[in-house]
Amino acid sequence: MSADAQYSIINVKLTIEGCFCQEGKQGLRVNRLEYQKNEQAAAVLASHYKRQPVAYVRSFGCQQSVNDGEKLKGVLLDVGFSITEEPGKADLILFNTCAVREHAEQRVYGNLGALKGLKQQKPGLLIGICGCMAEEKCTVEKLRASYPYVDLVLGTNVADILPDILADKLTSRKKALRLPPVREEIVEYVPQTRESSFKAFLPIMHGCDNACSYCIVPLVRGSERSRASKDIKREFEELVQQGYKEITLVGQNVNSYGKGLEEEIDFSDLLSLLCETPGEYQVRFMTSHPKDATRKMVDTIAKNEHLCKHLHLPVQSGSNDILARMNRKYTAEDYLALIRYAKEVCPEMTFSSDIMVGFPGESEEDFEHTLALVREVRFTQLFTFIYSKRPGTEAAELADDTPHKTKSDRIAKLLALQEEVVGEMSQNWIGNTYPALVEGPGREEGHLVGRLDNNMLVEFEADPSLMGSFLPLHIEEVKGAVLIGSVAK
Ligand code: 5AD
Ligand code: SF4
Repeated sequence: MSADAQYSIINVKLTIEGCFCQEGKQGLRVNRLEYQKNEQAAAVLASHYKRQPVAYVRSFGCQQSVNDGEKLKGVLLDVGFSITEEPGKADLILFNTCAVREHAEQRVYGNLGALKGLKQQKPGLLIGICGCMAEEKCTVEKLRASYPYVDLVLGTNVADILPDILADKLTSRKKALRLPPVREEIVEYVPQTRESSFKAFLPIMHGCDNACSYCIVPLVRGSERSRASKDIKREFEELVQQGYKEITLVGQNVNSYGKGLEEEIDFSDLLSLLCETPGEYQVRFMTSHPKDATRKMVDTIAKNEHLCKHLHLPVQSGSNDILARMNRKYTAEDYLALIRYAKEVCPEMTFSSDIMVGFPGESEEDFEHTLALVREVRFTQLFTFIYSKRPGTEAAELADDTPHKTKSDRIAKLLALQEEVVGEMSQNWIGNTYPALVEGPGREEGHLVGRLDNNMLVEFEADPSLMGSFLPLHIEEVKGAVLIGSVAK
């Protein structure tokens, strides 16, 4: 069933554009919509509450999810809600969820459990789940069985239709929770309430056409769809004009940006186009898939002053057998060749990565290959995960007989190696001065924290008014994962 069939979309202008993706998704049609305030739904909400209703929205997961949450809040404000940070004061509680690992889901269930008493005190309270978990059949089943006080299961990409769904719920009082369809529309001009006044997330594409065997994302976020470059550029220019200092382009696989668009454009072209915008800002992006990361992209980063000289390139494993079983479509050698090229054309470039240990069938030898890759690349940051079985994925069918203890020992070994590598690298940073974006208060009174291009944090003494500005920081010492510095004269 399409989303249009389930909810009457009366608040959008609709344009349908043929989209011919090059990777086996021939003829996928992308509906491109423009958000318009849903006056009818706003009137229903106003007459129901008879005062300004209050919403609490909490996002879990990646930057894409955070940005979805910013849109949910933006739309709620647009139709008359106010936003609170206290669930106890809300008429509507929305958890915008993540499904990437079981642990992320457990956190949501824990938070939902804590709402049971609140719902008993306030029967008129609406509780909804949206985001990635809400697109899984098992979530709907579990909510029905164990969390009967949840009123709504919305999917991903629902901000624009949220007022309609709420109005429908309040007037029809339908109870049954249903698995929502994955909505593949691209909706422009959705209002957003940004979490930060100087750092912004800007989605350039949605969904994912890869089939990594462990990953739930393609199942919950649908096929890959790129936004038109003119829409991205418009939003980018607005952010720069509003004074945003760091713009992070987000998408499940930013490197395949442009596939299926009528315009001839790839990710590197988009980076160059956006960075023509005059102003004082820097650009980051995530996430890159190594199979689509090109030398052209590395060259673009190397020569453009607005682009942070840092690449987050999740490798997942250093073993070719495991990479093949993960269906990653590159080898460790391919990965290392790109990193070596990047180091050659841009010696100051740094790298970070995601690594998963304990994928079904990972042997000690496979794991040794991962350690060898980490030793060679010298990442500034590693995000490490123990494999988590996701129902519905291909890997969920594989036998997984490695004991949990072996997996946690491997993670510990990997982290120890990473600490050693960063410890050695950070000695080279001491005594040098680097530009940093001041992000927030430090751990000590009177201190601030700045982030370098390479994502490392530096703590230094300075006036809080400097928050959100670029400063040159002189690195003086290293304390664990944090560098200690001072503002360079
Ligand atoms: N189990 C463990 N980690 C996972 N990731 C994605 N799916 C899983 C899973 N099933 C990790 C990958 C990815 C990061 C966002 O989360 O390393 O790059
Ligand atoms: Fe979590 Fe992936 Fe969904 Fe982001 S896209 S919220 S990481 S499952």
